[in-house]
Amino acid sequence: MGDMNGKVCLITGATSGIGRATATGLAERGARILLIARNEARGEAARQAICARCGRDDAVRVLIADLASLTAIRKVAHEVLESERRLDVFVHSAGVVPWERRESEDGIELAFAVAYLSCFLLVNLLLERLKESAPARIVIVTGDYQRQASLKGRLNPDDLNCVNDYSATRAGGQETLAKVLFTVELAHRLEGSGVTANCLHPGAVRTNLMRNAKWYVRALFALGRPFLRSPERAARTPIFLAADPKAALLNGQYVIDETLRDPNPEARDATMRAQLWEVSATMCGLA
Ligand SMILES: NC(=O)c1ccc[n+]([C@@H]2O[C@H](COP(=O)([O-])OP(=O)(O)OC[C@H]3O[C@@H](n4cnc5c(N)ncnc54)[C@H](OP(=O)(O)O)[C@@H]3O)[C@@H](O)[C@H]2O)c1
Repeated sequence: MGDMNGKVCLITGATSGIGRATATGLAERGARILLIARNEARGEAARQAICARCGRDDAVRVLIADLASLTAIRKVAHEVLESERRLDVFVHSAGVVPWERRESEDGIELAFAVAYLSCFLLVNLLLERLKESAPARIVIVTGDYQRQASLKGRLNPDDLNCVNDYSATRAGGQETLAKVLFTVELAHRLEGSGVTANCLHPGAVRTNLMRNAKWYVRALFALGRPFLRSPERAARTPIFLAADPKAALLNGQYVIDETLRDPNPEARDATMRAQLWEVSATMCGLA
């Protein structure tokens, strides 16, 4: 599935779970991985494991950035632009599920900041390099949560910070839906550029995502663990979107198990997508 020799792939959330399995799979196919980690030790551990797996000492470069910080995101994007001449693939898999409402240093609700806004800002800052490297691909890991009936219409551009009504499920519904709207809008804006953008649901996966949940939720997940997917199984779809020649022409799609699916109907609302883009740009301080 896709020879990635000579390709440079920037991956967020690759110290753990789906992102790490995706980075490993792409490195095994020959890609050079730029791995964004918030913690040096975890970044180094992932680097060593991925290099050992693919048998190349220089397969991974670790970049340090806390994606809950807009300043850190700008700094790491600058570092990439200064030092990397090409960027063929961008995979966003960083995410967090805070059980209680928390804010980033920029005053943004934490799940929204890490899972969605960091992706919006990173993509915008790196877009010219991706275009220069075309054909290039943007792959965004989201969740099927956004499709659930109770969450339809729950994206509220006037309260993206969930100030008025916080729950982990509301925040999760909002950030996963925001990533879908962003993907579709980005795909429209990228038409004809040689860069594509697609998003995916990885399935229910055995990862560290629920580590901040209440004890009974963690207990439930522990019981269900044998029935959850492995990160390697879950990584098949992001690897397909990032590397498979069959996915080269996909743009603006929502994918589950390498199959196109309909996302939340809100993704078809061009006004909502434009409004989200504008609010996100303002939150990030983008012109
Ligand atoms: N697991 C599932 O069943 C499932 C289902 C649907 C969607 N998803 C989505 O899949 C994505 C990946 O999640 P996962 O299941 O692989 O969870 P995970 O194992 O917890 O991985 C999350 C990754 O995000 C990184 N991260 C968190 N906060 C960060 C920050 N402030 N700055 C930089 N990196 C940060 C983590 O780094 P550290 O190692 O430093 O913590 C880790 O590498 C998430 O967007 C999640 O919503 C997961």
